[in-house]
Amino acid sequence: MTTPIITVDNIHKSFLMGKDAVPALRGVSLEIQQGDFVCLMGPSGSGKTTLLNIIGGLDEPSRGHIVVDGENLVALSEDKLARLRLQKMGFIFQNYNLLANFTAQENVEAPMILANVGRKERRQRAINLLQKVSLGDRGHHYPSELSGGQQQRVAIARALANNPPILIGDEMTGDLDSETGFAIMNLVRDLNKEGMTVVFVTHDPRMAEFATRLIHLQDGQLLREEVAR
Ligand SMILES: Nc1ncnc2c1ncn2[C@@H]1O[C@H](COP(=O)(O)OP(=O)(O)O)[C@@H](O)[C@H]1O
Ligand SMILES: [Mg+2]
Repeated sequence: MTTPIITVDNIHKSFLMGKDAVPALRGVSLEIQQGDFVCLMGPSGSGKTTLLNIIGGLDEPSRGHIVVDGENLVALSEDKLARLRLQKMGFIFQNYNLLANFTAQENVEAPMILANVGRKERRQRAINLLQKVSLGDRGHHYPSELSGGQQQRVAIARALANNPPILIGDEMTGDLDSETGFAIMNLVRDLNKEGMTVVFVTHDPRMAEFATRLIHLQDGQLLREEVAR
């Protein structure tokens, strides 16, 4: 047995709303192996985003453990957690989350600045990554000058900036027309074929079909898992 790259161990998460604790996750356990292509599905409010955020170290569980590449996230200091996020995980969101006042290339360079990559190497890597997502000629454009699909490809290039082993996507095709959404998913599939572990959330069964593991959540619990044919 190989060690999972991500272990989610009996995670509980509640949010405080006034005096009431709203349970978002109620005892979720999951092992993800390196190279897995995992899709999380479930009704709105079932806890998908909460689970992704906890896996990605963007939020902490109320109870339980999460281990990413051998590191227990709950035990890490803020600094170490930030470093781990930077080096192990790339994030893609529904609304792209690009920095509006920076060009595509500068957006891709940003995580490398945080990781102390030198200027020359940074620039060259950003150019290469933009080529990889077929935006080699758009490096000097601002997000507002790009289509939604192009902005999401910049976001993918940015997610890959520090060459992380894990890609995390929350409704990453949610704002795109289906043709553009398929193009994004094809790109993500290519990255998975190159060995990247992918964990993503979608509402769209056509996008879910790209995954090799399909995990259904309901009311903060795992309901069932399907393995792709
Ligand atoms: N920051 C928050 N504060 C309060 N409640 C939250 C917060 N984030 C999520 N929730 C609640 O947790 C539950 C799960 O939310 P979420 O993980 O966003 O679901 P999904 O992504 O599946 O739609 C919902 O009931 C939601 O209202
Ligand atoms: Mg969500």
